Amino acid sequence: MILMKDIIDDKNPLIREKSATVEIPISQDLKDKLIEMHEFLINSQDEEISEKYDLRPAVGIAGVQLGILKRICAIHVENYDKDGNYINADDYALVNPKIVSHTEKKSYLKAGEGCLSVNNDVEGYVPRYAKVTVKGYDVLTEKDVTIVARGFLAICLQHELDHFEGTLFYDHINKEYPKAPIKDAIVIE
Ligand code: NI
Repeated sequence: MILMKDIIDDKNPLIREKSATVEIPISQDLKDKLIEMHEFLINSQDEEISEKYDLRPAVGIAGVQLGILKRICAIHVENYDKDGNYINADDYALVNPKIVSHTEKKSYLKAGEGCLSVNNDVEGYVPRYAKVTVKGYDVLTEKDVTIVARGFLAICLQHELDHFEGTLFYDHINKEYPKAPIKDAIVIE
């Protein structure tokens, strides 16, 4: 089981390293690790488990955050309707995911972003593409997947894929004016 102590933070220089493409066929060890990463996300969003193990709620995690410099990441995004009723979840455990196309239009989270490897809150808008198409191999379904994502999921995917390049969300924030308006961007509440 992955715990907070297994996750490196942004003071560790590894977080700035580039991750390598995973060679195919994918080893069973790496598949198991990805499944474990995905389970961590589910646990982190479970009230009881997260409290018991002191996990910070997270919707995504990349290999580098566990010190694994490979292009792997997991996603668990729960979707709710406007009344707060659970609809479904977007679940992925991706190997070599890559953005193959994106809109020019931007979006950003009104509340800003957070990261398991960043221990303090960093205020400011993080401009992202409003819609991305990501291709990769998904270990959960054991299939090649094409994910057409918009809204919150699109932001999560871009955040995780940034980790492969050693980029952190706050690198994108306007240094002088963290909440400077982003032209024509969709605001995600
Ligand atoms: Ni992160």
